[in-house]
Amino acid sequence: MIPFNHLGPVFKMFASLVYPGEFRKALESTVQRVRNKGAVLDVGSGTGILSQFARAARDDLQFTMIDPAPGMLRFAPVFAKKVIGRAESLPFPAGSFDAVFTGDAVHHFKDPVSALEEIRRVLRNGGVLTVFEIDPGSILGAFITHGEKMFREPAHFYRPGELAGMLSGNGFECGISRFGWRYSITAYKV
Ligand SMILES: C[S@@+](CC[C@H](N)C(=O)[O-])C[C@H]1O[C@@H](n2cnc3c(N)ncnc32)[C@H](O)[C@@H]1O
Repeated sequence: MIPFNHLGPVFKMFASLVYPGEFRKALESTVQRVRNKGAVLDVGSGTGILSQFARAARDDLQFTMIDPAPGMLRFAPVFAKKVIGRAESLPFPAGSFDAVFTGDAVHHFKDPVSALEEIRRVLRNGGVLTVFEIDPGSILGAFITHGEKMFREPAHFYRPGELAGMLSGNGFECGISRFGWRYSITAYKV
């Protein structure tokens, strides 16, 4: 398994490099549509890089980060509430968030299907989910999939259409953006 609990300083320094500028712009435009003082949840937040991107665009939002690794959350910014926990069992009431992000994390979840159901539950109707993932159908994505399996990670990598299909079947309207070997899905709860 990847020892995330010991990798906080590494992610704090380098996590922003994982995300293309185009994705960051798209995330900013998504959060611009969130209502004033809306609640945002960053699932598998690590040190909270997606929340940092979003906060640069909207500093009125109320951020919560959840991750099972306290050693990651310790390096998260002070503006967010931090919760130790897993995506498969989110300790929040139904409909309590206007937006949810999950970046480079779904493939680490033990049970992504339950996690997506939980994310849908905690989103309010009309709320938006942004997922950023690696495409296992690309050459680099296939290499990373193989590497994570060697580390005995869950390695639940999905092709963009496959993940969008899972979300559509779970009550979301989805749009896919591709960034070479990576992609994002913006999904509205209907
Ligand atoms: C590759 S890191 C990405 C962190 C952050 N989103 C970023 O982009 O820097 C994956 C994160 O998923 C977290 N994680 C692993 N299993 C999880 C689960 N079941 N629920 C929530 N987070 C999980 C890990 O602790 C780790 O912080």
